[in-house]
Amino acid sequence: MKTLIKNIGTLAGILPAGVLKLEGEQMNDVASISNAYLMIEDGLISAFGTMEECPGDSPGDGPYGYPGDCSKGHPDGCSTDTTGDNSRYEVIDAEGGIVMPCFCDSHTHLVYAGCRDGEFRDKIAGLSYEEIAARGGGILNSADLLHETSEDELYRQSMERINEIASKGTGAVEIKSGYGLRTGDELKMLRVIRRIKETSPLTVKATFLGAHAVGREYVGRQDEYVRLVCEEMIPAVAAQGLADYVDVFCDKGFFTVEQTAAILKRAAEFGLVPKIHANELEISGGVQVGVEHDALSVDHLEQTADAEIEVLKGSRTMPTMLPGCSFFLGIPYGRAKQFIAAGLPVALASDYNPGTSPSGDMRFIMALGCIRMRLTPEQSFNACTINSAYAMGVSGTLGSITEGKKANLIITKPLPSLAFIPYSHQTPFIRKVIIP
Ligand code: NIG
Ligand code: FE
Repeated sequence: MKTLIKNIGTLAGILPAGVLKLEGEQMNDVASISNAYLMIEDGLISAFGTMEECPGDSPGDGPYGYPGDCSKGHPDGCSTDTTGDNSRYEVIDAEGGIVMPCFCDSHTHLVYAGCRDGEFRDKIAGLSYEEIAARGGGILNSADLLHETSEDELYRQSMERINEIASKGTGAVEIKSGYGLRTGDELKMLRVIRRIKETSPLTVKATFLGAHAVGREYVGRQDEYVRLVCEEMIPAVAAQGLADYVDVFCDKGFFTVEQTAAILKRAAEFGLVPKIHANELEISGGVQVGVEHDALSVDHLEQTADAEIEVLKGSRTMPTMLPGCSFFLGIPYGRAKQFIAAGLPVALASDYNPGTSPSGDMRFIMALGCIRMRLTPEQSFNACTINSAYAMGVSGTLGSITEGKKANLIITKPLPSLAFIPYSHQTPFIRKVIIP
């Protein structure tokens, strides 16, 4: 099955094969072609170039014939050439819009039950995230709700969120457990994530986050809970092949550096690579322990000093910032500009969850990257595509316009520039999202 996208105003986000992340000054540019075409074959990008090089763009022209009707596969109404006599491939006329890789969202907790709108009121009234958590709200509140919710219902609620983010341009998503906090409930969450992997067209990675908070039964017995995570949860998760990664909330009031190290060491015995929650509430040592254990990413980083920048240099760990959480909680934004100036890469992700970022809209994240973190539109674009793909271990197959990569693509209406995306992020500029 082939699809030709023609009359692309700007084909944005082109990278050579083998570039898995962009760091420092490399983040300043988004390579593009104007007046372009792109060919998709069996779900992969097979060719692209200028319209002058476009194969078979008129009947009898070039090696391919004209298409049949594309409305079958694309009910949301792309315009399609229907002239010609065969259906060797479908043609989508981009009518001058931008074509870009789908967003990758490398940090979410989108499998959760219900919501926490009551705590939203507490927050407005002045309680901090830690105060709400200390009163037994927060993550424990979500764990109670999840415990009472059936696996089918949890899947149904989560798929609504998946469909919502896909319509907003996300083509790959990492999802964490961590609202179970009991072995059975952690496994239930991870089974829901596996079912999403199997039934949704998005690329999905699963992360085991048993150490998100201390479960209710273990309050006051934190070390025992860590033992439960190490001795019961990790082996059970690994035995069923339910997780790609392991995560720990290494922060004030949650898990210490020593506990984090113990969990990462145990997880490594089962081949689970770390992605760490670090430095959201204070400088926790989470970045250092993550880098020591060769974490794929260290995430949040609202609080960082120069020591964190230094330790990340020369590591393979992707610093990932979550501006939706800063926005919602009213806490500082990560110092992305300083990280980039120091030659580091930066990824942005949504942190979609009911307590600190109840939105998975990556257009908004890209906008916050510019508006609140003062990244250029190009830097923010790269942080939300190739670097976020790296932070979830998929940048070999996603995150850029590259021959052989998956054709997860956003087609926009004609826009004045790439900057329009973060500038006017709530304008309904997405005309079509392709996730083959
Ligand atoms: O990434 N910080 C820890 N975990 C989530 C919040 C989870 C929650 O409050 O439900 C976060 O912000
Ligand atoms: Fe998170």
